[in-house]
Parts: sequence; structure tokens; C-alpha cells
Amino acid sequence: MTTPSPARTAPSSGAGAASQALAKRASACIAGGVVSLNRKVEPSIAFVRAQGSRLYDADGNEYIDYHGAFAPYLLGHNDPEINAAVVAAISADHSLMGSGTTPWEVELAEALRAAVPSLELVQITNTGSEATAHAIRLARAWTGRDDIILTLGGYNGAHNDVARTVSPALADIGPRVSPGEYPFLPLSAGIPREVMQRVHIVNFNDLPSVERLLATGRIACVLTEPVLQNIGVVPPLPGYLQGLRDACTRHGTVLAFDEVKTGFRSALGGYQSLAGLRPDLSVFGKAVANGYPLGVIGGRADIMGLFDAADPKRRVLVAGTYNAHPLASAAAIATLARLRRGDGEVYRHLETLGRELESGMSGIFSDAGITSSISRIGSAFCVYFCDHVPVDWHDVATNHDQDLDRRLRRALIDRGIYLFPLPCKQGSISYAHTSEDIARTLETTRAAIKAL
Ligand SMILES: Cc1ncc(COP(=O)(O)O)c(C=O)c1O
Repeated sequence: MTTPSPARTAPSSGAGAASQALAKRASACIAGGVVSLNRKVEPSIAFVRAQGSRLYDADGNEYIDYHGAFAPYLLGHNDPEINAAVVAAISADHSLMGSGTTPWEVELAEALRAAVPSLELVQITNTGSEATAHAIRLARAWTGRDDIILTLGGYNGAHNDVARTVSPALADIGPRVSPGEYPFLPLSAGIPREVMQRVHIVNFNDLPSVERLLATGRIACVLTEPVLQNIGVVPPLPGYLQGLRDACTRHGTVLAFDEVKTGFRSALGGYQSLAGLRPDLSVFGKAVANGYPLGVIGGRADIMGLFDAADPKRRVLVAGTYNAHPLASAAAIATLARLRRGDGEVYRHLETLGRELESGMSGIFSDAGITSSISRIGSAFCVYFCDHVPVDWHDVATNHDQDLDRRLRRALIDRGIYLFPLPCKQGSISYAHTSEDIARTLETTRAAIKAL
């Protein structure tokens, strides 16, 4: 696929006049000026169109997109096949029936089970946050315990149990400490203290801390991203995930993988298929419907069976007017079909591009005398400006040159390459990207480094 080169029509000074005008209107009518506070960044560019690997802003500028709206666009923006499936669902008068079951939710559930073997039963939600909330509630009901373990540097959604901490300032939390000793670091005001006291934060790749907490016998679940992809791409050390698996089994604790970012992006079977592990519960979102709003919670049939337990005291509520919405379901069914086709052809293309980007960038930074380590799992990547791939948030915050990262991202945006303008945010390649896109990205990176 050949796409035109990014055209810059405005001076490279961040947001153009049309973007600024829209931001001004937004601030007068939208609390905070954006509809998800995670989108509040500088430059505040208003994008008005997206196609394949490209974004177009209100001032007529074109960008090669590596943000992918926080990663759902595995196949690229407005993939024709996925959009056609959505249009076909509308044309066939599919609607929200709101009673009984529908053929499309059954088809979707069957496709999910076929893709990820640990999903013995599934439920469909609208977002990843709803799915992680269900995972936690299921685990509490299954174990009869209230406390949960989350990972520092992880993000698991916006609800009370998980709105804790992604990338806090080390000045606020201090050095790595034992579990339970972190001060409360909610991402939000308004969370009851009792809820926060039920949540224990551990460092990623720190099995002894998890073991110590599990030994209290109070932990319902360990909910963790198998790769921390909200602080770049921080992979598990060899044996860490298996250690979690074994420890959870020993202590009767539910192991729940949050694969909202890794799922379907790293492999059709999720990161768990690469790790060769079977969590008790898994949560998916984002790439599963290539940008349409859909979340999945699934796993062991006995635990998932609590959604329909005969004993009302054990039954866990799952409900949602829009669950398995026909348009999102059509998108997910089509996405999974596309990922299955061609014997892994989508993943081979993503791996090829990922390799080109990784080796090209390594060469550019080393030519410029800049210490860098590139962490990449398939199409998800992050450049850390330090001499190793970090193992947890403290490692990122202490060793990664965040200032250089921020300045480079800004210089790239000004030159038509869109990486989210915050340090150590994951970059995402899509199937719509081409080798020409990667070549242009590398050429632009070289120029940006020179200018810095
Ligand atoms: C790993 C992870 N889990 C859960 C979520 C929450 O998903 P959603 O924004 O769809 O509620 C996110 C969102 O970024 C995420 O990255």
C-alpha cells in the first residue's frame, strides 16, 4: 500500500489556529476541555480525520500515527473490512434487542474462545474498565476475600478499585518499598478510604512481595498487565509470570491478566499464549474490535459460572444496556476473522515493520551517541533513553531520560510523526503502516535528533 508523504501546511509550532479555536470552544462546554482526561496533552491538536496509518488535523496537517488512540487500531484507522462489517450490521437491521441472546454475540463468544484457550466462558462489556471491575468482583465472590493486588506502573481502568497509580512522581512515593507500605496514590479524588485499603500495590517483577501478601490469606486476586504497556513496554523477567501463576494457585488466589493492551496486539492468543500460561481470568479490550468499543472478561468456567450461580448469595451481577452492542460486536467478529486469516499474515507484517523500526532507531541513536534501549513486542514499542530495558516503574523513572523523550516526541510531532506527547508512552504500529511509513519515520527521527 502506498500512501502520500505527510504534508505540513502549518508552521511547526504545535497546535495550529483551527486546533486552538476548537480547544477554546471545548474548554467552554466540556469539563476539562477533553472527554477523557488522559487526552489532555500539549500540543492540543484537534484531529478531524483518520485513515489507515494517518491522522489529519483541523489545520490540514497530516501525521503518521503511532499513538493509535492508545492502541486499539491494530489494523489501522477506518479499516475498510471492519467498517464494512459494521455497515452490514446496520443494513441487516441488527439492533440492540435487549432481551435474550443474539446470533452475533454467540458468534463473537465462539470466536473469542477459539482464539484464547483459557477463555472457557466469556462475557462482553463495552470497555476495558468494566471488564476489570467484573474480574475483581468475580474474584472476591469466588474467594470470599476482599483484598486485591495491583502493580505499580500498571493501568487497569478508571473505577475505584484500580484508579491508583500509573506513573507517580518518585518524590511522592519514595524508593521501592515492601508491599503495603506505599502511601495511597489514587488517580482520583472521591475514592473511599476503605476501598483503597483493600488494594495493595507491588512492584512489577517483584515476586517475593506478591508472595508475602498472598501469605496473609486475604488476597482475592492478583490483577496485572502481563507486560506493563502504560509506561512504555516493560516486559516480565523470565519466570515472573510463571511465579505468579504458581503462587496464586498455592494460595487459592485468582490470577487475572489484564490483556486490554497486550491482547490481540501481541498475538491472537494474547500475551498469555506467548508466555505459555493460563490465567484464571483474563480481560481484553482495545484491539479486539479495532477501535470500536468492546471489552471482554473471560476465563475458568467455574469462576465465570458465578455470573449465573444458583445460590443468590454467590451470584455476581453482570449487566449493561449496551453489552455486546451489535456494531461493536460486528467489528470484533470481523477483526478476529481478519487476524485469523492468512496463517498469521497480519502478525508477520507487524513483526517485519516492528523490526525495521527497531533496528533503524537503534542505529540512529547510536550514531548520535545517545544511549537507548528499545523495548518491543511485535507492534508495541517504546524507546527508553537508558542502557537497559527497565524492569519496573522505579527503573523507568530513575534511569530513563524523560526530558529527552518529551523533546523528541514534540520534535517528531512538529515534523508529522505522531507519538503521544508524554514520555514513555507505548508506540503502536498498525497493519495499515507500510515500510515506506517506517522509512519516513526513521528519516524524520534522524532530522529531529539533529535539530535537538
Ligand atoms: C491495560 C489496560 N487495562 C484497562 C484499561 C481500561 O480500558 P478502557 O479505557 O477501555 O476502559 C486500559 C486503558 O487504557 C488499559 O491500558
